[in-house]
Amino acid sequence: MTTTPPAPLLSAQALEVAFPGRRGAATARAVDGVDLDIRPGEIVALVGESGCGKTTLARSLLGLVPPTAGRVTFGGEPLDYAGRALKAYRKRVQLVLQDPSGSLNPRHTVYDAVAEGLRIHGYTGDEGAAVSGALARAGLRPPERFLLRYPHELSGGQRQRVVIAGALVLEPELIVADEPVASLDASVRGEILALLLKLRDELGLSALVVTHDLGLAWNIADRVAVMYLGRIVETGDVEQILTAPRHPYTQALLSVLPEADGEPVILTGEPPDPSKVPSGCRFHARCQVLASGEAERAGVADACRTKDLPVLEGGGRTQVACHWVAAETARAV
Ligand SMILES: Nc1ncnc2c1ncn2[C@@H]1O[C@H](COP(=O)(O)OP(=O)(O)OP(=O)(O)O)[C@@H](O)[C@H]1O
Ligand code: SF4
Ligand SMILES: [Mg+2]
Repeated sequence: MTTTPPAPLLSAQALEVAFPGRRGAATARAVDGVDLDIRPGEIVALVGESGCGKTTLARSLLGLVPPTAGRVTFGGEPLDYAGRALKAYRKRVQLVLQDPSGSLNPRHTVYDAVAEGLRIHGYTGDEGAAVSGALARAGLRPPERFLLRYPHELSGGQRQRVVIAGALVLEPELIVADEPVASLDASVRGEILALLLKLRDELGLSALVVTHDLGLAWNIADRVAVMYLGRIVETGDVEQILTAPRHPYTQALLSVLPEADGEPVILTGEPPDPSKVPSGCRFHARCQVLASGEAERAGVADACRTKDLPVLEGGGRTQVACHWVAAETARAV
């Protein structure tokens, strides 16, 4: 018997976000055709190197950046960008930023920081109880010990928990966490990740976790989407992608992790620039499979240089956008 997966809660469909270049410079295609679904209770990790468009995609999913093309849907309905509708949406989908990037105001107490969202949304219930409840859920217990402290009186991990409490207080259905633990040291990082998992289990919270750290994706996510220059190039179940990556880019990213077997693949060529998306496969100028002649032997080298690849579906199916993988798979069957 096959069970139908639940409908996605949040979905990007053929999403594109382009930034016009200044003073005649070319347009930057930061997000360049992305389909991505996040289902209820699912944690999806969005990974990829700096500048590949992760934050832009996340901001667009939150309605903070309007798409140039394509659309974002929540609960099956396209986002409404009118002020009031967007405000209601931002209550249901919360952004969690990494704290030292300044998401906490140094002059606000923990209480004020967490209550801010309630005030913005005109909460009419018991504010003190809601703030204490959110702090406790974020692991700051007993909450009374923290209410009147200022950010500088907290550890990095505690500050990150305050940021998370500020999101939880609005009882969102989904959180988008952009590099939530990048600046924390290893032990605290583990605690914050455990917290996110607990929130998923206890509150059924869905999450999109943006990170350039594949180890983090491994520890937390159900599913991973690997992004390169504005597109998802490989996606699927986290265990499958991280133990048996098929896209040469994912293979290269994994090969440089300390625990990886074999020789690290050091990517050559220019770092990706969204104002100059290459023709053909967007990774071709840096691809180790093309450079080594393997793609040529499989008869796909021309396609690598000239033929664009289809946009991967947003759902749970494991997929990869690569001419060489397609040729190898066809040969194996
Ligand atoms: N407001 C903007 N105007 C112009 N270009 C932008 C703007 N925001 C982002 N970009 C460009 O879009 C590309 C993607 O940026 P983005 O911040 O989404 O990358 P990222 O994957 O989050 O990187 P990092 O891992 O460093 O956070 C970059 O080349 C960036 O310079
Ligand atoms: S399509 Fe070709 S260039 Fe692109 S990743 Fe695959 S082998 Fe490399
Ligand atoms: Mg970013």
